[in-house]
Amino acid sequence: MGIRIYPPITNASGPLSVTYEELERIARSATGAIVTKSMTHCPRQGNPEPRLWAHLDGKIGSLNSMGLPNLGYQEYAKLIPKLKEFGKPVIASIASAPCAHNLPPVEQYREIAGAIEKAGADALELNLSCPNLEDVPISMDPQSVRAVLSAVTRDVKIPIGVKLSPYNNVPKLFEEIARTLLDFEIAYVATINSEPLTLDIDLKTRAKVIRPNDGFGGLGGPAVLPIALAEVHRFYRFFQKHRAQIAVWGVGGIIRAEDAIKHFLAGASVVQIGTLFLWEGPQAFERLWAGIQQWLTENGFSSVEELIGQVRDA
Ligand code: DHB
Repeated sequence: MGIRIYPPITNASGPLSVTYEELERIARSATGAIVTKSMTHCPRQGNPEPRLWAHLDGKIGSLNSMGLPNLGYQEYAKLIPKLKEFGKPVIASIASAPCAHNLPPVEQYREIAGAIEKAGADALELNLSCPNLEDVPISMDPQSVRAVLSAVTRDVKIPIGVKLSPYNNVPKLFEEIARTLLDFEIAYVATINSEPLTLDIDLKTRAKVIRPNDGFGGLGGPAVLPIALAEVHRFYRFFQKHRAQIAVWGVGGIIRAEDAIKHFLAGASVVQIGTLFLWEGPQAFERLWAGIQQWLTENGFSSVEELIGQVRDA
């Protein structure tokens, strides 16, 4: 089952999407949908600060180890009906994390998904790829991906997206994960989550820019654009080859309209904006969409659909 997003731009789950006030700010922008921060079974404070570093000079991007701060799924279940009043699809991102209830991860996803569907969300985005928890992300283990998707797709009827890690340094794993997805009714794959285990140093203080996890965190922004394009294109080609009706949503490195155009050419049908939204605030969506439309007109296209997957060989 698909989900229609127009304009084909949304916020990426994570940046400034935790509280109702933040989500309302997103809802009032030109975004095509409202995507929440990944919600977990228990509310979480997240990691100690500093935990987010945004290089706003356009060169690198952002580095974070937030540690999944969020209100807990029961709070989001209450907020979703209010967010729906803005008339845009509400996409609830879901993650598992260690929790006082000691529920196994698969049970956490299943329980949250059921409650959030009941609350009226239009789609679920299963975040299987948080890079900042102690455990290896579920996205790196095909059997765990299968277990979560089996449990959630059994009960849930609304469209399901899956947020994945970059697999650029583990090619065989890409193939195994992509094959696993073919066995389920999935609306879209969102790729990439932030590039894990990255480090930056502030030369003024000679300190690591973030504190948690010994300074290592997930990278987003311009530095990851080519990685994201490669992942979008690999999934797009794989799904085409296997005639799967799974859309690819491109996330990573979009700060100009031209970057979004590259994502569409690589195979994305929707793009999500993370670091740029942190940087520029909600007007980023309007500016990007205007830029995309201008590019389409100047280059003789009448819609984004005409571009999707149309990259040429060199
Ligand atoms: C966090 C970061 C992520 O990239 C993600 O997918 C989920 C959570 C975080 O640290 O909060």
